[in-house]
Amino acid sequence: MNEKQLVGEKTVEYISDGMVVGLGTGSTAYYTIKKLGELVRKGLNIKGIPTSEQTAALAVEQGIMLVDFKDVKQIDVAIDGADEFDADLNLIKGGGGALLREKIIANAASTFIVIADSSKGSVKLGAFSLPVEIVTFGAKMTSQKIAELGCEPKLRLNGNQPFITDNGNYILDCDFKQIESPVELERQLNMIPGVVENGLFVNMAERLITIENGVLVEKTKRIFNGASG
Ligand code: A5P
Repeated sequence: MNEKQLVGEKTVEYISDGMVVGLGTGSTAYYTIKKLGELVRKGLNIKGIPTSEQTAALAVEQGIMLVDFKDVKQIDVAIDGADEFDADLNLIKGGGGALLREKIIANAASTFIVIADSSKGSVKLGAFSLPVEIVTFGAKMTSQKIAELGCEPKLRLNGNQPFITDNGNYILDCDFKQIESPVELERQLNMIPGVVENGLFVNMAERLITIENGVLVEKTKRIFNGASG
């Protein structure tokens, strides 16, 4: 079994009958959704809120009942992949372009669990270019303002055309090299008019399921003495 499948399937242990579940996007969350589908067919009763159109289609194919976001009072658990994580469980997300809905759903969930293979761990975030979702209007100017923060934004393409998110926006992939303060960069980016959201997920994840030295491990947010749980 590959690492993505291991962590993706493990996380269903946090799901029980009656829960509203935020369903992530990407090749790791794929395995969670497949496994949940299997359990639903055996009688598990859950409702899903998808983070992308792609995930919605997969969930429907798997027989998972979807619910409209406006009709739920709370999301019990959100499960999603990440492009990069650090020891504080801060994340870079958005490699698949779904960062806006992912962030809304992770923020709304009582518990947000991240699933990531061993290649995603970093001492400092920034190895993965940070995806920033921007509105198409004034995109060039918005890109210039982002560049002033210390990167060269690259408009994400789909073939020869700009990649368009599920929300009708563009994505700029921004290589900041090493991000010294994720919390500050997140704030600065989101203050630029035209920026809809960025892929930094700071202080959001409560649990990380990953692989270390070939072994499946679970981590919770680092506490004061620097030890991870
Ligand atoms: C989608 O926009 C992303 O945030 C994904 O969750 C992230 O890119 C992880 O994807 P993989 O599980 O495919 O690596």
